Amino acid sequence: MLRAAPEQPANMRLTGLRGVGKSVLLKEFADRAGEQAWEPALLELQPSHNTDRAIQEVITQLATATREAVSRSERVRAAAGRAAQAAGGLAVSWGEVSVSYVAGTRPDETDLAKALYDATDVALRHGRSGVVLLLDEAQAIRDDRDRSGQHPLSLLIAAVSMLQRTEVPLGLVVCGLPTLTGNLLRARSYTERMFRGEEIDSLDGAEAEQALTEPLAGTGAEIDGAVVAEIVDEVEGYPYFIQLWGAELWDAAVTADTSAMTPALLAAARPDIYRRLDIDFYEPRVATLTPAEQDVLIGSADCSYPPLTVSELNESVDKSPGNINVLLGRLVENGVMYRVRKGQYEYTAPKFREYLERRVAGDRGR
Ligand SMILES: Nc1ncnc2c1ncn2[C@@H]1O[C@H](COP(=O)(O)OP(=O)(O)OP(=O)(O)O)[C@@H](O)[C@H]1O
Ligand SMILES: [Mg+2]
Repeated sequence: MLRAAPEQPANMRLTGLRGVGKSVLLKEFADRAGEQAWEPALLELQPSHNTDRAIQEVITQLATATREAVSRSERVRAAAGRAAQAAGGLAVSWGEVSVSYVAGTRPDETDLAKALYDATDVALRHGRSGVVLLLDEAQAIRDDRDRSGQHPLSLLIAAVSMLQRTEVPLGLVVCGLPTLTGNLLRARSYTERMFRGEEIDSLDGAEAEQALTEPLAGTGAEIDGAVVAEIVDEVEGYPYFIQLWGAELWDAAVTADTSAMTPALLAAARPDIYRRLDIDFYEPRVATLTPAEQDVLIGSADCSYPPLTVSELNESVDKSPGNINVLLGRLVENGVMYRVRKGQYEYTAPKFREYLERRVAGDRGR
């Protein structure tokens, strides 16, 4: 995509559930962009960035940091005796960009666009081909439905597309939970054509097997075929789970002072694996919720799944439908659930339902 830019704007939307490897892939994109002489600008967005002012501030800071990074790397090169390439800046002046966009443009859009324009200009002067913004957790910013409310996502997209229409080599990769797709559609109708969308999913059986066994090659450890089959079946192809099961099994083998990963070893390690999984992966997501939000979540363990339907939740949670609706909205905001379609929700973390069931069973057993 970068090679075809700026004639074809390099914009991508990357979505997927928790722990499927989006952030790892985004970092890989940053490295590849660097190899192609594009300057990567990587940032993880946060809920606190979800206002017009905050998004403008944080993206402006990112633009400034990018300019500094470009200049710094040039000094390092020069110190190493390699002369900086003489290169021109952008072919289009800021005046030409802004003049072509006066009509209907908000002043803050123009400010943001100017910061990005400057960063790209500096990058080009230092021999780069362009700048690519890589924004992780991008579902954290979204527009209010209300016209008079906050529209941070539109603000960002409008600034980027304003530059791209005059062929400024600026790319944008937005990455996050599946809610990002709907947020973009609501933000601006043209975003549908603006982004190439990729959904990151779990690995298939053969890939999961490879991910589990390849790191063991040359270590002297032997993993039983039955153990591989069992783990691959249980992790359902989710990268984070493969990693965790592999690491725990490795630790179990070290503790037992054996190089043979047998079904017996796996059986012995299993309770620890689930304890780790709950403590490291699931519980942090629940711990930050309010008691009322947790009530809805716990109540959802009794509903059929997938998906959760609002009508079933209204039956199993002891709260008013209006209240449940508000709490569901907050669970989405907190990234625990996402809305599949009207009245239907799913959990953002893989196998979250099984976790809830373990938790409810644990509470009842206490
Ligand atoms: N290609 C890969 N090679 C090695 N490890 C990987 C790979 N992809 C993902 N992982 C591992 O899987 C785990 C989850 O990856 P990552 O953090 O990128 O997921 P994510 O989709 O960004 O999750 P979240 O939505 O929670 O941010 C990490 O521990 C990471 O090290
Ligand atoms: Mg991530």
